[in-house]
Amino acid sequence: TYEQDGEEAREIAKYLPYFPFKGIPRFYDIGGFLEKPEVFQHIVDIFVKRYEEIGIDSVAGLDARGFILGPPIALALKKPFIMMRKQGKMPNSISSQEYDTEYGKRSGLTVQRDKVKKGDRVLIIDDLVATGGTLSSAVNLVHMLGGTVVECACVVELKMFIDPSEESGLPSRTKLFKS
Ligand code: PRP
Ligand code: MG
Repeated sequence: TYEQDGEEAREIAKYLPYFPFKGIPRFYDIGGFLEKPEVFQHIVDIFVKRYEEIGIDSVAGLDARGFILGPPIALALKKPFIMMRKQGKMPNSISSQEYDTEYGKRSGLTVQRDKVKKGDRVLIIDDLVATGGTLSSAVNLVHMLGGTVVECACVVELKMFIDPSEESGLPSRTKLFKS
C-alpha cells in the first residue's frame, strides 16, 4: 500500500545535514536503496508499470545519478536510454542554457543531436528534484530537438524548495517554473 511505501522510503532515505556546505539543510542520497536489491527492484517496477501504461519512445537520464536509475527502467521497457550529460563530454551535442540548482549556478546539460527525433515522447529520469533547475534544463534539450516530454520522474522530491521563505535564502521551484 501507499502507507507501507512511505514507511519504507523513510527508513531508507537517510540524509546528512549540511552537506556539501552549510546552506544546504539536507543532503539526500539514493545510496540507501541501491544496496537493497529488493527495494531497488521495487522502485524500478513502480516506474516501469506507470510508463508501460502511459507509453514512451525513450528514457533520458541526467548525469550523474539519473544514470543509475534510468537504465534499468529503459531496459525493462525495451526502450532506448539517452544520456544527458554535463558539459564537454560528448561530440555532436547541443547544450541548454546555464541554470540554477540548490547548489548555485550550473552550465546547461548536453545531449547528442541524433538521440531525440521530432515528435519523440521522452521520459526524463533523475534521482531527486530540488529547485527543478536540472530537470528544466533537460526539458529544454528535448524541446530544442522537437521532442515531447511525457513526464519528469524522480524518487525524491525536496518540498522545501517549492516555496521557501525569503529568510531561508533557498531558491524557489515555483518561481523558476513561473519565469
Ligand atoms: C543533484 C541531483 C539532481 C539535482 C537536483 O545533482 O542528483 O540532479 O541535484 O537539484 P535541482 O532540482 O536544484 O536542479 P548534482 O548535479 O548535484 O549531482 P550528481 O552529479 O551526483 O547527480
Ligand atoms: Mg544529479
